[in-house]
Amino acid sequence: MSDAVLRVQDLRTEFAVRGGVVKAVDGVSFEVGRGRILGLVGESGSGKSVTAYSILGLIEAPGRIAGGQVLLNGVDLTQLRGEALRQIRGAQIAMVFQDPMMTLNPVLKVSTQMVAAVKAHDKVSTAEALERAGQALVTVGIPSPQERLDAYPHQLSGGMRQRVAIAIALLHRPAVILADEPTTALDVSIQGQILAEVRRLASETGTAFVWVTHDLAVVSSLADDICVMYAGKIVEAGSADAVMAEPHHPYTAGLLASVPAEHEPGTRLQQVPGQAPSLADLGQGCAFAPRCAKASPVCNTPPPLQQLANGRSALCHHPIQWT
Ligand SMILES: Nc1ncnc2c1ncn2[C@@H]1O[C@H](COP(=O)(O)OP(=O)(O)OP(=O)(O)O)[C@@H](O)[C@H]1O
Ligand code: SF4
Ligand SMILES: [Mg+2]
Repeated sequence: MSDAVLRVQDLRTEFAVRGGVVKAVDGVSFEVGRGRILGLVGESGSGKSVTAYSILGLIEAPGRIAGGQVLLNGVDLTQLRGEALRQIRGAQIAMVFQDPMMTLNPVLKVSTQMVAAVKAHDKVSTAEALERAGQALVTVGIPSPQERLDAYPHQLSGGMRQRVAIAIALLHRPAVILADEPTTALDVSIQGQILAEVRRLASETGTAFVWVTHDLAVVSSLADDICVMYAGKIVEAGSADAVMAEPHHPYTAGLLASVPAEHEPGTRLQQVPGQAPSLADLGQGCAFAPRCAKASPVCNTPPPLQQLANGRSALCHHPIQWT
């Protein structure tokens, strides 16, 4: 993809823990094009949130980025510090968290917070900032923005708070928004509405989204492309439709098999049989081997990244073949 706005290359993030190093993100690479939505999916502890935080430069001790590049329109964010990073964050790349109260301050009115968010990057009058805040609320499907602007966060429903958080992320029309399970806590119909708004926003504004989720139903209704994470690595990537129809990696196949046939958006993934590995003591071989029906002795050696048809890839010695 030549029009990638975000290109993550061989990203490595480690945490120093007692007795060793946890490689939470271990050589992750992907790219997202303008107006595209990438679903980053995997079970709990696979490194999805740490990937998002690493991209934004939000990793703190005992964690550190141990290698790789995060290229936002060609600028490597891993090389930026302090003010340089703050100027880009919120303006060119923004984040929506699972809990909107990570973004919202409980003691300030929505209007106060949104005006401050506008003024953080643009020198405009308060009146103009308020106008932009109101427009942003309309953009995310909030019909009477004035009422919401006058409210404190606790006076809003969970779905409304999350829409406000998304509106704040959108204020400066960033190139990329990272969203870490922002609809997981919401009821299914509200979630469906927000996902539809996000789809529309991506195509209308050109903002690219990286949407972190456990929920394959969310990915299938939202994402253009999908990256499946397991134990800190991307084990499968490709267009969402193709991956979901014909998974190449045994772990992806396991995830899909564990989705109930009559799944509703919001249904949590069932566990793939077996336990997620401890990231502190992974060996050289495939981390999925203890849970994999296709495992063979060669799987004790590092699996290769196999480039497959239609721009797809799988990190596996024996990818599932479809004819
Ligand atoms: N502050 C920390 N100190 C040590 N290890 C950490 C820290 N934060 C994350 N990790 C490690 O990184 C791994 C990946 O965590 P991460 O939060 O990215 O998972 P996730 O895929 O977002 O999971 P979930 O779906 O539960 O949100 C965890 O299993 C944990 O071992
Ligand atoms: S490398 Fe081997 S153990 Fe790992 S997923 Fe592929 S077949 Fe299974
Ligand atoms: Mg997470």
